[in-house]
Amino acid sequence: MKNFVYDIPTKVYFGKDQIQSLSELVKNLGKKLLIVYGGGSIKKNGIYDSVLEQLKKADGEWFELSGIEPNPRIATVKKGIQLCKEKKIDGVLAVGGGSVIDCSKAICAGAYYNGDPWNLVMNPSLIKNALPLIAIPTMAATGSEMDHIAVITNEDTDEKIGTRHPLLRPIASILDPTYTFSVSPYQSAAGVADIMSHIMESYFSKEPGLILENVAIGLLKTCMDSGLKVLEDPEDYEARANLMWVSCWAINDFLKLGRPVAWSVHPIEHQLSAVYDITHGVGLAILTPHWMEYVLNENTVDIFEGFFRKLWDWQDKELDSYELVYKGIEELNKFYAKLNLPMTLHELDIDSSQFSAMAKKAEKQVQQGFVPLSESDIVKIYEASL
Ligand code: NZQ
Ligand code: ZN
Repeated sequence: MKNFVYDIPTKVYFGKDQIQSLSELVKNLGKKLLIVYGGGSIKKNGIYDSVLEQLKKADGEWFELSGIEPNPRIATVKKGIQLCKEKKIDGVLAVGGGSVIDCSKAICAGAYYNGDPWNLVMNPSLIKNALPLIAIPTMAATGSEMDHIAVITNEDTDEKIGTRHPLLRPIASILDPTYTFSVSPYQSAAGVADIMSHIMESYFSKEPGLILENVAIGLLKTCMDSGLKVLEDPEDYEARANLMWVSCWAINDFLKLGRPVAWSVHPIEHQLSAVYDITHGVGLAILTPHWMEYVLNENTVDIFEGFFRKLWDWQDKELDSYELVYKGIEELNKFYAKLNLPMTLHELDIDSSQFSAMAKKAEKQVQQGFVPLSESDIVKIYEASL
């Protein structure tokens, strides 16, 4: 196990009605707040009213930035930064999915930066300060509420990049599982696929790590089991709560510390959602089995075999390693089918015309991956996913 520093300072308020803590919490943000939210789901499900009630109690002044799009754009980040500078905002409250939280993180950093905020995405070392952020996630997926990542799209260059900096981590997050009851079956399923991918991306490392592997399998099984339950009953509190907490632990650094971890499927997917604006988790569900098949070789087969034996409880299954892995991938595909997710890029109206251009951009980010991939490798993974 490699040396590491474990430092996750986000204070988490977990459970039903934890919004009651917000009025005290926002006092730490300062007098003038910016509330950031998406296309209106929080107004339909009542979360907006609950938040406002707390802000009134805290006697603060607030401004709003709404309409944050899924796969948030740098142009929207710029709007938020301008508002922060004009109104001399002291802190930001993000209420929504990962897109809202990511956009808010970039706004928080951009409020202290005078150049083009895209520079902060491409070069996070330029981030020297950030406004304090409180996150109120309304779906379980990205884990942005407890991580230091903000994924932003540049619509001019068709790039989607995750910037990382400790200052981007929310100072506090309020996680009320009932806030996720209204998430549609499609977005719930995509969220499950995203959480699964975060766990798998960290699992597949060039070095073993027994604690991490065992915890990862436990998280993965919990996520899959709870994912099917919320599709059956969207108001299953326990299952929604499991998903909400697993989504944080999948990406809050715990699984990646102590051994080298470099994600592969995410950079390949980010190109798809940058160019075609697809739902991130859906792209991951389509690509992951094909990535597994592509990187399966004599150096990786034992790791995949160990993974699938633990995941599907196949400890005693007598099969040749390769056969077992192919069967394991087949089961994974069956699971995604149970989530009712599209299984091919065709179903999302994606053809091969942009594959080379997308692979060229993704390649830069997967060179240190579990199995380093070249542009032509990535094109082949896209082609297999068609
Ligand atoms: O915009 P509104 O009206 O709020 O509707 C949203 C949106 O249409 C809706 N939604 C959210 N909560 C809801 C709800 N609808 C009903 N009831 C609720 N309670 O869901 C739709 C999708 O929202 P979005 O925020 O885009 O989803 P998600 O949380 O999956 O975030 C995806 C973004 O996060 C990035 C992705 O690439 C993508 O841009 N990621 C961020 C990461 C991070 N910060 O660590 C890591 C991830 O790997 C990922 O890349
Ligand atoms: Zn993801």
